[in-house]
Amino acid sequence: MKVIAHRGYSGHYPENTLLAIAKALDADCDGIEIDLYRVEDTLVVIHDSDVSRTTNGNGLLSQFSLQQLLQLDAGNGESVPTLWQVLQLVNNQCLLNIELKGADTAELFLQELAHAEQQLGVNPGLLLISSFNHHLLRLIQQHRPDLKLGALTASLPLDYAAFASALGAYSINCDKDFINEALVQDAHRRGLEVWVYTVNSVQRALQLQQMGVDAIFCNYPAEARGWLQAG
Ligand code: G3P
Ligand code: CA
Repeated sequence: MKVIAHRGYSGHYPENTLLAIAKALDADCDGIEIDLYRVEDTLVVIHDSDVSRTTNGNGLLSQFSLQQLLQLDAGNGESVPTLWQVLQLVNNQCLLNIELKGADTAELFLQELAHAEQQLGVNPGLLLISSFNHHLLRLIQQHRPDLKLGALTASLPLDYAAFASALGAYSINCDKDFINEALVQDAHRRGLEVWVYTVNSVQRALQLQQMGVDAIFCNYPAEARGWLQAG
C-alpha cells in the first residue's frame, strides 16, 4: 500500500508549505498531496478558501492580491507557495497529487502544466489530478487524456465506482469512514485504484491494507511506513 504525504508532512510541519513538502521528500514517501487555489493569474498551494486557519492573515483568499498573500506567514516563517515552486522542488522525485480546490483552477492548471513540462521537465506521468468537483476532472480529461485523475468523494454515492470509471479516472479517492471491502473490489474490477484519506492511526492503516486499498493519505508519512512494515 502506498503512503501519500497529506498536504506535505503536515503532522509535524506547516501544511502545504515548501518545508512540509521538503520533509515529505526526505521521508521517502510514495507521493505528496497538495491543494490548489487561484489568486490572480497564479495557482497557489493552500487548503482553505480563507487564509485564517493556516496563516497569520485573516479573510477570504479572494480578497487578497497575490502580493499580499505571499507576504503572509504560513507557519515557521514559510510563505504560501505557488504551484510552480512546488513543481520545482518536487522535481519528479515522487508522485505529486494536485487537488483542484478552486472552481477556477482547471484551465490555468493546464496552461501552467504545459509550461512546466517545457521549462522544468515535469513528467506528467508522475501527477495525479484530483478534485471533489468532477466537472473540473472532466475538463482536464478532455484536454489531457494522458493525465491520471482521482475522483474524490466525501460520502459514498451508490454508483461511485461506475461513475469514476466512466470518467476515465485512475483512482477513486474516498473518506476513511465510508470505505468498505465491496467498494474496493468493485473498483478493482473496473481497473480503478482506491486511495483513502486521511488515515492517521495505525489500526485504521492496517485494516485498509488488509482490505486491499492501494494508497492512504497520511499526515505522518514516515510513521505510517513503520506501521505498515510492523503490521
Ligand atoms: O485528497 C485527499 C484529501 O486531501 C481530501 O480532503 O479536505 O484534506 O482536502 P481534504
Ligand atoms: Ca486535499
